[in-house]
Amino acid sequence: MRALAYFKKGDIHFADDLPEPTIENDEEVLIDVSWCGICGTDLHEYLDGPIFMPRDGGEHPLSGKRLPQPMGHEMSGIVSKIGSKVTKVKAGDHVVVEAGCSCLDIKRWENSSLKTNAACSACAKGMVNCCAHAGFTGLGVTGGGFAERVTVSQDHCVVIPKELPLDVAALVEPLSVTWHAAKIAGFQKGQTACVMGAGPIGLAAVLVLKGFGASKIVVSELASIRRDLASSLGVEVFNPAEHADAIEELRKIPVGQDGFDAAFDCSGVKATFDTALHVTTFRGVSVNVAIWGNKPIDYHPMDVTLKEKRLTGSIGYTVEDFREVVEAIHSGRIPLQDCRQLITGKQKLEDGWEKGFLELMNHKETNVKILLTPNNHNELNA
Ligand SMILES: NC(=O)c1ccc[n+]([C@@H]2O[C@H](COP(=O)([O-])OP(=O)(O)OC[C@H]3O[C@@H](n4cnc5c(N)ncnc54)[C@H](O)[C@@H]3O)[C@@H](O)[C@H]2O)c1
Ligand SMILES: [Zn+2]
Repeated sequence: MRALAYFKKGDIHFADDLPEPTIENDEEVLIDVSWCGICGTDLHEYLDGPIFMPRDGGEHPLSGKRLPQPMGHEMSGIVSKIGSKVTKVKAGDHVVVEAGCSCLDIKRWENSSLKTNAACSACAKGMVNCCAHAGFTGLGVTGGGFAERVTVSQDHCVVIPKELPLDVAALVEPLSVTWHAAKIAGFQKGQTACVMGAGPIGLAAVLVLKGFGASKIVVSELASIRRDLASSLGVEVFNPAEHADAIEELRKIPVGQDGFDAAFDCSGVKATFDTALHVTTFRGVSVNVAIWGNKPIDYHPMDVTLKEKRLTGSIGYTVEDFREVVEAIHSGRIPLQDCRQLITGKQKLEDGWEKGFLELMNHKETNVKILLTPNNHNELNA
């Protein structure tokens, strides 16, 4: 099978002889991939990995599977074959794949080294996105969407309406990250939000918060090209580098009640963490969406206490988030044309390394989401 695969740190390449994925279990479905987006996490696996991928030629603890494997976890496609116990999808359905895997998936794989029927305490509480063994399709658990075909469990498929374009559907994954974060914040219609960082996640947050009915959104971003992108989505932008005291300056933006109702750190440096915390109002909420390295940072708990603020985090998503995002795009709550603005490139799998990964590594600010397709003839110009 043709795929853009992860072989090891520093080695991602196209190959046309990857093993065909098969239905290994009655509840799995085989999907013909339409589109799959490249994520910053994919770049990290190349540069700093293996992070989620199996190490040292070993097996993934959840699935027992080894490298190489096709990468890609932001995918849409069309179901081509279903296992004998599949009831939730049928051949021909258009789907998106919720790529998170947890303890609840272990039963799919005979070779899992986690031979237990007991779910971890997060999974037992239904918080599968916080699973102690969390992994991802396309990041080592099993092969992902930079391939002609992929198999996943029916529980991770969300059927999408056929009129929803499959390229836009590949954005459901990053949108679900920020949809989950907006729910964690308890964000309400009419509230105000400040977003740190206008990368793919910050811009996805903008679309989601607009969909939640935000009355005002301000995006703080250093790179001018990315500020322009945010601006074209109809929100106010702010350049922290222009001000000696960016927090004070942001706090001067009139938002009604001495600060924003919510702030989302979609960047992950001390400056954005501090800003997200300080620009919120009394009982406001600051959500850390960013993934940090191991180095801790300082913060003063009284900055939370004296204004009864909430400081929280959001990780991944659930299949419900996916369903809600699909519905939000279908109903126009998240406009299709706004989603399209996030797609800055479409490439064939064969060109995915050069015109996808390298392009993102070398020209990060001019890109948001580059999608790859294995379906070179029918879909590249769709
Ligand atoms: N919580 C989750 O489940 C989840 C899922 C996916 C990604 N993430 C994380 O979300 C974060 C954002 O992802 P991304 O792909 O958009 O990353 P990105 O690096 O493309 O975007 C971050 C942006 O922050 C901007 N920035 C840097 N310093 C700044 C500052 N001081 N003020 C304002 N802006 C600043 C950068 O210019 C950049 O545009 C990453 O940490 C990523 O790992 C989290
Ligand atoms: Zn678990």
